[in-house]
Amino acid sequence: MDSHIPSPPTRRLSMGERENAIDRTIPLFPPAAEIDEFNYFDNNEPPEYLEGMIRGAQEFVKFHRNGRVVLVTSGGTTVPLENQTVRFIDNFSAGTRGATSAEYFLENGYAVIFLHRQFSLLPYSRHYSHSTNCFLDFMEEKDGKVVVDPKYQEEMLSVLRKYQTAKDHNLLLLLPFTTINQYLHTLRALSVTLRPLKSRALFYLAAAVSDFFVPLHRIPEHKIQSKAGGSKLVMNLDPVPKFLHRLVDKWAPGAMIVSFKLETDSSILLSKARQALERYAHQLVIGNLLQTRKAEVVFVEPDKTELWIRLTPAQEATGVDIESLIIPAIIQRHDIWIKQSGN
Ligand code: PMT
Repeated sequence: MDSHIPSPPTRRLSMGERENAIDRTIPLFPPAAEIDEFNYFDNNEPPEYLEGMIRGAQEFVKFHRNGRVVLVTSGGTTVPLENQTVRFIDNFSAGTRGATSAEYFLENGYAVIFLHRQFSLLPYSRHYSHSTNCFLDFMEEKDGKVVVDPKYQEEMLSVLRKYQTAKDHNLLLLLPFTTINQYLHTLRALSVTLRPLKSRALFYLAAAVSDFFVPLHRIPEHKIQSKAGGSKLVMNLDPVPKFLHRLVDKWAPGAMIVSFKLETDSSILLSKARQALERYAHQLVIGNLLQTRKAEVVFVEPDKTELWIRLTPAQEATGVDIESLIIPAIIQRHDIWIKQSGN
């Protein structure tokens, strides 16, 4: 008997092949036109809760009709693979950018609509949730009562006061989404809701939005079954229409719109950010790299300028949020936008 066990064939997975998996030289998927909007929204039903949610948002906007309101989008959208969803495609975003930015907008006098992925980071509570510590580690028992551990007292008091101020003045409206479809329907409805504010509305689109999805008519109702013999699951995803152009042009004309561009390859970040600005014709694209997004970003603007915002090593070491530099720079631009718009 031959006891020789043949060695497995060498796997041919060269770096070259991986790098070419997505060809970035292929022209971009075009921005959505009116017909794409009708097609998408007619064929992918709104979430049942949307009407109630928008009524709440209308009240909020009415309350702040003489002030500035920013819509912050935050966290990642999911792409369900089944209608009764067991499996879905997700992305990395924890919502740090959005939740942190919302705090700095609030500190600077803005009312904030926080459209976020459910269970992602929230303004203020982010300091104590999702951390490697359990929230109970911030507590201790004293005389039979639960109190905050003295070493966290000062910081927690400061966070608590800011949170209470936001609550007491009705400055923060938390609206959740999970799927890409919920996100798109809500974004469109909120854009219309914010219209009365004209140039005082600011859109800060930090959510990581799925680029591909399964349209409603192709989603199976029940859990996809694996078959005997281990057959492959082959997915057929459609591109998500690029609605940013519709947002700028039709959904929220007059508002100032800031989008983000995320890349992992530093050599294409600037060109991709510039391309996005030219395609969608809005006011500002903030470019960031996955690897360095907490330490540096680049502002790309219609006047062809590029402005890098970076934390110094000392700021990084002491835990300064880069959003504490980003938000004032945006507000400066929003001041000018409002002045120029004359309303
Ligand atoms: O949450 P963190 O861990 O802190 O990470 C923050 C972040 C890296 C996610 C954030 O800083 C960021 O870059 N967000 C945008 C990521 C993204 O979705 O990039 P994009 O190239 O796919 O989309 C660009 C812009 O177009 C986005 O502002 C998006 O709102 C918009 N878009 C995208 C797809 C689509 N169908 N319609 C859109 O309008």
